[in-house]
Amino acid sequence: MLPKGHLVDVATGHGKFAVAARDLGWQVTAFDARTVRFPDESGIDFVQADVRDFVFPESATAVSILGLLYHLELPAVRDLLARTSHLPTILDTHVAIHADDVVDGVAGRQFWENQERPTASVGNAHSFWPTELELTKLLLEAGYASIWRHVPSHRPDRTFWLCLPSGAPRLDQWEAFVDASTLDEDDLFARVRKRTSRPTTSHADALALQAEEGPSADRMAELEARLASKERELAALRVSHERLAGHPAVKVLRRVRQLRR
Ligand SMILES: C[S@@+](CC[C@H](N)C(=O)[O-])C[C@H]1O[C@@H](n2cnc3c(N)ncnc32)[C@H](O)[C@@H]1O
Repeated sequence: MLPKGHLVDVATGHGKFAVAARDLGWQVTAFDARTVRFPDESGIDFVQADVRDFVFPESATAVSILGLLYHLELPAVRDLLARTSHLPTILDTHVAIHADDVVDGVAGRQFWENQERPTASVGNAHSFWPTELELTKLLLEAGYASIWRHVPSHRPDRTFWLCLPSGAPRLDQWEAFVDASTLDEDDLFARVRKRTSRPTTSHADALALQAEEGPSADRMAELEARLASKERELAALRVSHERLAGHPAVKVLRRVRQLRR
């Protein structure tokens, strides 16, 4: 798909992706903060390093970040993406389906790391999962020019993303999720909202249920809690939308629309 070159496999773990890339003829540098799962393989430059300190080699032509982003806190995510956005990047990560927190203006959820697992984060006790919309914005802000999302996703909250710097080719089998040059904020917002929203339990529904079935106090408490969570989710989405509206690409788009009128 991409021309063969020098791949840096970030947080390689058991190194299966690094080995597959080597077998396809790539030069591979693979690093991880833990060495316990490094395979005994030749032809790959395995390095022990924390993602916060790793210096990407100038000869790198592509990056894979598989299963790491959702183990990091938001500043480390931003910092990593800023250092990789000049290179085609294959990403595999979870996103928050329901935003119940806003960190530094980004909607998502906190994830508590089980540090006893060899796949957990190193250096942070909890991590932050942005929503799909927020992940998209983080990628754009980092400097990627187009973002491709693999469909179907292999889990409702997880798929592969291909993040390309400007000038990279368009690819078959990938849904062009966001292209900074043609970004339509309303369309993006509508698509993401559709994907992430559940049926709403409104006050009216809850009252109707109460009238018909006389639900228990527990049931009412559950409905109220769901409603409150829905309201928090909507508030977080609103914050997301406002942040997107401030993105430079969106401002340019708006100006172009005004000029066309
Ligand atoms: C879920 S595993 C993913 C492994 C592999 N990339 C894969 O796709 O199967 C997460 C990996 O991130 C590594 N890791 C966690 N925090 C890290 C950090 N701060 N710097 C570098 N690697 C880290 C862990 O040691 C673990 O190997």
